[in-house]
Amino acid sequence: MSDRKTSHATSQGPIAILGAGLIGCSWAALFAASGRRIHLYDSHADAGVQFARFWEGVKDTLAEMGFAHTGSPPEFRVFGSAAEAVAEASFVQECIPERLDAKRRLYAEIEPALPAGTVVATSSSGLKLSDLQVGWRNPSHLVIAHPFNPPHIIPLVELYGNEATAPEALDVSRALYESCGKKTITLKREVMGHVANRLQAALWREAIHLVAEDVVSVSDVDTAISAGPGMRWAVMGPHMLLNLGGGPAGIRAYCEQFRDSYALWWDDLGKPQLDAETVDKLVEGLREEIGARDYDALRRERDAKIVALLSAINHVDAGGDRQAANARHEAAGSAVGAK
Ligand SMILES: NC(=O)c1ccc[n+]([C@@H]2O[C@H](COP(=O)([O-])OP(=O)(O)OC[C@H]3O[C@@H](n4cnc5c(N)ncnc54)[C@H](O)[C@@H]3O)[C@@H](O)[C@H]2O)c1
Repeated sequence: MSDRKTSHATSQGPIAILGAGLIGCSWAALFAASGRRIHLYDSHADAGVQFARFWEGVKDTLAEMGFAHTGSPPEFRVFGSAAEAVAEASFVQECIPERLDAKRRLYAEIEPALPAGTVVATSSSGLKLSDLQVGWRNPSHLVIAHPFNPPHIIPLVELYGNEATAPEALDVSRALYESCGKKTITLKREVMGHVANRLQAALWREAIHLVAEDVVSVSDVDTAISAGPGMRWAVMGPHMLLNLGGGPAGIRAYCEQFRDSYALWWDDLGKPQLDAETVDKLVEGLREEIGARDYDALRRERDAKIVALLSAINHVDAGGDRQAANARHEAAGSAVGAK
């Protein structure tokens, strides 16, 4: 399928960011903090100002996270068209709004200008790759690379390519993101909303249902997650955690014990609609939960707490926690003994 050779992820050519909104600015800041040059295009003329302002707001956080290139202004150029922005790019991160027609129009404009082998990674939250490939002369280097907001902090990137995708396009993307500290997962087949948004949608559906049915307030349902399972989910996924919940006999014992309960709970889960009455209830509940904090204060609080959490996790992973290090040491010893 591919007649282009994929450019190497570690090549230090510029990265083109198409669309400098919430997600585009965040990607641009991450790549710039990792030492990459940025070529920016946005249909709004003030994209450069927008990105410079965004950088000022996040550069200290990126420095705290250990990124080396935060002491001087980011190296970026703003272009007057998407085709010019991608013309010398070694990688393209597309971040324009979630509209299929707009993304297809943009791809038609940039394809003739793309250097051979340049990967175009779309940040799309849930559009299907097969739909986004329509109109390409050669879609082999278009991949889904979906981040979680804000991409400069949250490690996850969901990758997907199908049978029309050159395998090296996924390899190059994975290598680039991982070189910037990201954790990637790779979908094996196409589903709407990828993986993490589907999981989020499943949880949010029930959170809304519990509020709509007056079981609990907006604030309490948020606390139920952030002070409860959310704490665990930041360090291990649901399967691993419930494996621990089953005791030494693991997930099999957990399933034996709770099979019937889950069957009843699953049958009882709600299917709310985001109608006007429900949205009003969420808005009112959030008003109480937010209190005097404004958008920026909330954003700073979220980012500071996530960065602190990441730092603690990295510390444990690096063996800084003696108990965890001992446990790993013992496990390594018994693995050697078992050979
Ligand atoms: N917001 C999120 O939480 C989130 C999370 C992950 C992924 N995404 C995905 O990222 C993409 C961007 O979302 P966002 O939230 O940053 O949107 P946004 O509206 O904040 O930013 C989009 C930017 O693209 C610009 N734009 C519009 N049309 C354009 C075009 N044809 N060419 C160049 N620039 C154009 C706009 O001026 C704007 O600055 C979407 O595909 C979305 O699904 C969003």
